[in-house]
Amino acid sequence: MSVWTINGGNKLFGDVKAQGSKNAVLPIMAAAIITGCETELINCPELSDVGAAMDILRHLGCKAERRDGAVYIDSRGMNRTDIPHELMREMRSSVIFLGAILARAHRASISYPGGCELGARPIDLHLAALKSLGADIQEQGCNINCFDSGLIGTRINLKFPSVGATENAMLAACAAKGETVITNAAREPEIVDLQEFMRKLGVNISGAGTSVVTIDGFGTRRSVKHKIMNDRIVSATAMCCVAVTGGSITLNEVVPADFETAMAALEYMGCDIERGECTVKITCNTALRACYPIVTRPYPDFPTDIQPLLMAACLTAAGTTEFTENIFENRYRHVPEMCKLGADIVVEDRVARVTGVKRLQGAEVSATDLRGGAALVAAALGADGRTVIDDNGHIARGYEDFDRLLANLGADLSYRA
Ligand code: UD1
Repeated sequence: MSVWTINGGNKLFGDVKAQGSKNAVLPIMAAAIITGCETELINCPELSDVGAAMDILRHLGCKAERRDGAVYIDSRGMNRTDIPHELMREMRSSVIFLGAILARAHRASISYPGGCELGARPIDLHLAALKSLGADIQEQGCNINCFDSGLIGTRINLKFPSVGATENAMLAACAAKGETVITNAAREPEIVDLQEFMRKLGVNISGAGTSVVTIDGFGTRRSVKHKIMNDRIVSATAMCCVAVTGGSITLNEVVPADFETAMAALEYMGCDIERGECTVKITCNTALRACYPIVTRPYPDFPTDIQPLLMAACLTAAGTTEFTENIFENRYRHVPEMCKLGADIVVEDRVARVTGVKRLQGAEVSATDLRGGAALVAAALGADGRTVIDDNGHIARGYEDFDRLLANLGADLSYRA
């Protein structure tokens, strides 16, 4: 059981160096097997999800080890094509290994993936993409067995721009004969980072960051070194924490455009934001007002991952903010916990209406998922008195040393893993 104890009320001041991105590193670790080479990933965040991906790589017969903030992967000796259920259930992103294993070995067996319980998280789009490349997929209960006798490049039109399905299709398609064009592809910055990495591996790929991604095989196998992009969700999290507590922090080595929708919302609420080329300074020294309606949609619109965090900032903002969650059906599981702190939130189907209260009061709460857990930490930093959060390891899946980051900024808290 991992527990946070937070004494709210301290303003946050200081500098933050964003960590490497969880959502970028996980598909890149899967991609590290496609050509059978050595890979050095620097700026690799130390997260339990990264540990889970390393366990999968080792199970497959690859070497995977962490040294000084980098992860080294040697996939030359890969000798298995299955991922057992115990490893699959650790995180949803394990499904990305399906396309990667198939590209490398023409067969793969996995079970349905785990991860945050954010409602139904089907993988039909992943499987449809692999099928259109010519993979034969058989589902038996929880198991998925996949074979191919030579993938063929084709046009894959995703019904919805799923991040994971786009990545799986990119990975499988690099072993296909001829060109593959993915349309209605997800446009998240992490997909651009995956493309950069695949290019270094020798894959002919273009278009990531737009709705059309084209892949046309790979050339010479080479070993690569790649710096993982910084985590835009962690940057937005730190900013939301300052919006809750007041104070001023500077984020370094960031790409401000990657989390512009979050900054625009915080700015509207009354935070002062200075955007540099690769820095962002947020200062918050006035009472906030409610935000305009927030509707979560695929990038470049407002990210579902930042919805709970912005909600934390709205809990004491004057007026009512309406959130509409369009991506995950269960992404309001933090709401009852926030209400234990005295928040006024009414949920009706996909819509949550948050009316700012004067003060929040510390309480005992439970984190039920990664971003919802971080949002509870943010809310607790602004609450009167002490909040104890039982987080069941959720926050460590996506935030590296989050307690130290906040303590360095002046928060009064302790964390027991
Ligand atoms: C990724 C991110 C996660 C983020 C999410 C949406 C990683 C490791 N995780 O998750 O942090 O919250 O994008 O931005 O990058 N869907 C289907 N069928 C499918 C696939 C998805 O119906 O085959 C649905 C999902 O149930 C969900 C929506 O599409 O409602 C978005 O899912 P997707 O974009 O695939 O998210 P993930 O890749 O799982």
